[in-house]
Amino acid sequence: MANNHLTGIGSESKQLATWYLTVAAILFGAQLLFGLVAAIQYVMPGFLFEILDFSIARMLHINALVVWMVFAMFGSVYWLLPDETGIETIGIKVGKLLFWVFTAAIVVVVLVFLFVQVGPADETTIWFITEGREYIEAPRWADIGIVVVVLGFVFNLYATGMKGNRSGIVTVIMADMLAFAGIYLAGMFFTDNITVDQYWWWWVIHLWVEATWEVYVGALAAYGLITMIGAHRKVVEMWLWIEVAMLFGSGILGMGHHYFWIGTPEYWWEIGALFSALEPLPLVAMFIHVLYDWGKTQGAQEALGKKTSVINNKPAFTWFVLNAFGNFLGAGVWGFFHTMPQVNLYTHGTQFTSAHGHLAFFGAYATILIGMMYLAVQGTNGIKVLRSTKTSIWAVSMIAGGVLGMTVALTLAGYVQVLVSRAQMGATWAGYFDGQSGMWFSQAMDWRLLMGFVTFLGFLLLAKDLLTTGKNPVHER
Ligand code: HEM
Ligand code: HEM
Ligand SMILES: [Fe+2]
Repeated sequence: MANNHLTGIGSESKQLATWYLTVAAILFGAQLLFGLVAAIQYVMPGFLFEILDFSIARMLHINALVVWMVFAMFGSVYWLLPDETGIETIGIKVGKLLFWVFTAAIVVVVLVFLFVQVGPADETTIWFITEGREYIEAPRWADIGIVVVVLGFVFNLYATGMKGNRSGIVTVIMADMLAFAGIYLAGMFFTDNITVDQYWWWWVIHLWVEATWEVYVGALAAYGLITMIGAHRKVVEMWLWIEVAMLFGSGILGMGHHYFWIGTPEYWWEIGALFSALEPLPLVAMFIHVLYDWGKTQGAQEALGKKTSVINNKPAFTWFVLNAFGNFLGAGVWGFFHTMPQVNLYTHGTQFTSAHGHLAFFGAYATILIGMMYLAVQGTNGIKVLRSTKTSIWAVSMIAGGVLGMTVALTLAGYVQVLVSRAQMGATWAGYFDGQSGMWFSQAMDWRLLMGFVTFLGFLLLAKDLLTTGKNPVHER
């Protein structure tokens, strides 16, 4: 890691990585801003009415979320590839060109979402404005463009992995990225039947976050532990293979928990219940994996009588440890809460779902990808040991505290909806509104907004730290 990216092997790949990670950070900020707009609208419904309606702010919030994470995932691959394979990424010139194509396309899509917003109910809207599928709303022209960019990325990855040293980590990422790209296709065609449409849409969103993205995170955690604390590759990669096997096992059929109420056959109740209930197991394994490796390295160091910390990138390590906790809590615990059809009958589509969605996306993905940004800052500036700064500590505390605060508020709001709208009033039209007009619900929305502001301020500090910490002269070079 001590290599300056301007001179070491893979300098081109690392430079491209920093471009991807930079755009990711900017989009993360945009995501939070649109989230704030939507949260203000829960409290003051007239806010920006007919200028930036809730539907649009929400759409921008969650699409920016998916896009920044994909950018950061590509960036992280370009970052670790030279370290793992020992060679410069093959076809890097094409990779760089596609980065610009991708970024330009995203800018155009966002501008259309912001200023055109809606179109007529015909094919032109699907082609040029939006496909209307939650989380992956890009219009079809952009969809096709994304496929081209992703194919280029997969080519870079495969060509490099096949020529260079193919470690376990690289092998897992190669297989995983192919699945990741392939599944995207399931969200690209349109059917008139909404049940059929939703059936395929869940392949993208569920099979991404609960199978391919989780496997990817396992590979990143493995790479990070080797890089930051010198964990033994053999141990780390053994865990990785176990997790891959478990995740694909439980994640694929676990998708049944989204098929309970959309008009699919009833056997999904049993399949969804059983396999999704098993999903937390690999997450527990990941959790143990990180703590175990950390403990082992610390122990070895103590035995040698070394007092200095063995962690060579404190801020990145903090975010990686948060990932282990956050993934387990957000996806494992909050997911498990509502995954049985008996429970989901009451919680489906309430703020409880949103509580889980926030903590899971944040805990499982935002954390580790921010950690990768810190690894890139360290490598780019040729820093041997990157220490935490006051700003980095405030940033991580405010972001994690803010998201946790929002999660608690949303969980309470969901609880009110379950009790009032569903249990008491039997999921009627009137019950839907009564559940949302009570004091407990509206107070929870106030708290969510407040905690959202805390999160956003934390983000500003994070941005400042990422831009400045690499230049700080107290770091060991
Ligand atoms: C990091 C992994 C995960 C992420 C990012 C994630 C994210 C989400 C999101 C955003 C939704 C809402 C989707 C919508 O808009 O309708 C959702 C729904 C759901 N998730 Fe997860 N999830 C993850 C893992 C899990 C796991 C492991 C479980 C079960 C153990 C689970 C159980 C559920 C259930 C049951 C729903 C449906 C909620 C409803 O009926 O309203 N999730 N998830
Ligand atoms: C400034 C902080 C944030 C605020 C104020 C905020 C606010 C909101 C609001 C108001 C919604 C719409 C909820 C609805 O449809 O009822 C939403 C949805 C969502 N947000 Fe955030 N958010 C913030 C940060 C985040 C972060 C950090 C993540 C993940 C990394 C995230 C992921 C999501 C997801 C996945 C949904 C869709 C949830 C669902 O439909 O179940 N948000 N957010
Ligand atoms: Fe799911």
